[in-house]
This record gives sequence, C-alpha cells and structure tokens, in this order.
Amino acid sequence: EFHLHPKELHLASNGPLGKFDRQQLQRGFQVYKEVCSACHSLKFVAFRDLRDLGYSEAEVKAIADQWVVQQPSINPETGEPTTRKSVPADHFPSPFANEVAARAANNNALPPDLSLITKAREDGPAYVHSLLTGYRDQPAELLKKFPGAKTPNGLHYNPYFANLNIAMPPPLVSDGQVTYADGTKATVDQMAQDVAAFLTWTAEPKLERRHGIGVAAFIFLLVFSVLTYMAYQNIWASKK
Ligand code: HEM
Repeated sequence: EFHLHPKELHLASNGPLGKFDRQQLQRGFQVYKEVCSACHSLKFVAFRDLRDLGYSEAEVKAIADQWVVQQPSINPETGEPTTRKSVPADHFPSPFANEVAARAANNNALPPDLSLITKAREDGPAYVHSLLTGYRDQPAELLKKFPGAKTPNGLHYNPYFANLNIAMPPPLVSDGQVTYADGTKATVDQMAQDVAAFLTWTAEPKLERRHGIGVAAFIFLLVFSVLTYMAYQNIWASKK
C-alpha cells in the first residue's frame, strides 16, 4: 500500500504511431551527460548513435572527447587501468573502474547500466520519471504501522522504488540544474521527463521503424481482407 505505481507520462513516442521528439531527446541526453553519467553507464549506446538525435559528426566527436575509456592494460606505476579519450565508436562507459569501486562510492549499491532500464522495469519511461520526482519524507502512517521500517542511514525514501528505500540520492534537486541549449525551462519535472524520453530511445532506438512497419502491415492486411472478401463473393456467386 505504500509502494506506488508510476504516474502517467505522455511522450511523443507513445502509442502505435508515436515518433520521438528529437528536441526532447537532446535535452534528455544533456541531463544524462551532466547528471546521471556521474554514476551510470550506457554500455549499449555508442557515441556515434547520437547522430540519430540530430547531432552532427563534429558534435558527436566533441561529445565523445569528454569521456575516457579504460584500456585492457594496467599502468605499471599506479596499478590502475590505463585510459584514453573516447572516440565515436566507443560506448558510454561506467565512471567507475569496476564493481568494487562503484559500490564503494554508492553505499554498497551498484548503479545499474541505464541502456535498457525502461524495458527492464514495468511501465519503464513513466517509472523513471516518477522515481526521479518521487523522493519524499517517509509517511507517518508507515512508521506507525511498521515502527522498524525507518529508512536506514545512507538510503533515501522513494515510494516508486520496489523496496521503498533506494541507495541513489535524489539526482535532480533544483530547477535550472542544467541549462538547456534550446531554452526550455529546466524544472525538475521537465528534466525527469526529458531523461525518461532519452532512456526510452536508448532502450529502443528503432522504435519509429517498428511503428512504421506496424502501420504498413495494418494497411496491407486491410487491403488483403478486402481482396479476400471480394474473391469469396466471386467464387460463390454462381452457387447462390
Ligand atoms: C539506481 C536513474 C543519477 C546512483 C537507478 C535506477 C534508475 C536510475 C532508473 C534503477 C532503479 C531500479 O533499480 O529500479 C538515474 C537517472 C539519473 C541518475 C535518470 C540522472 C538523472 C544517479 C547519480 C548517482 C546514482 C548521480 C550517484 C550519485 C544510483 C545507485 C542506484 C541507482 C547507487 C542503485 C540504487 C539501489 O539499488 O538502491 N538510477 N540515476 N544515480 N542510481 Fe541512479
């Protein structure tokens, strides 16, 4: 009763005819880049895939240049993996060297890769939006009913998270946290919607093609049905 179902989220890509709002995807990418990428990788997304959002080849290069990737080799001086700057063919790496380092920085929790998160959770895009805007104080009724259920130190109460206490601190806390290139006002709700839209794209970049094929198949079946009906009439015409 304390766990909430995600709030409804309307995205341009919803529905059988939906198309991505490229402007929104770029804003969502900006939120990912400036906020989420501090903890989360997108290991199924290559920098060059961003061409699909409307970035030019030069812009993609400039974006990739802001990330570093680990090399398989170890720096003999430090014992750390060596790194190099990313190129467009690389994928969005984790900011942490390995799982131990990631957990050490996150209260022993592991920030999941976000490439497929909108597919991995029920009602994924709406879930991401609700989760990001859902942080609040624990309701008094919950503590009355379950006195032992106080949110542990280092965790944060969020009724949209399956077990109510999440290790991720609220990542979007103030309006204007990012400055959008397109002038859209960056309220917390707007940023949450935009990054949810972006993560819908990362999980299914070919969504528009799927919708297009669906429409074509529907029209084909419609025409086919008319033809079969006419054939049926024709075949039985002499038997009436
Ligand atoms: C978990 C999204 C920023 C640390 C998650 C989950 C999502 C998410 C969808 C999965 C929840 C689930 O398992 O159902 C985002 C987005 C961000 C963001 C969209 C940017 C707006 C951050 C930042 C940090 C962080 C900046 C680190 C300071 C974590 C951790 C978890 C997590 C540790 C695992 C939580 C747990 O299992 O208790 N995040 N995140 N996230 N995130 Fe983030």
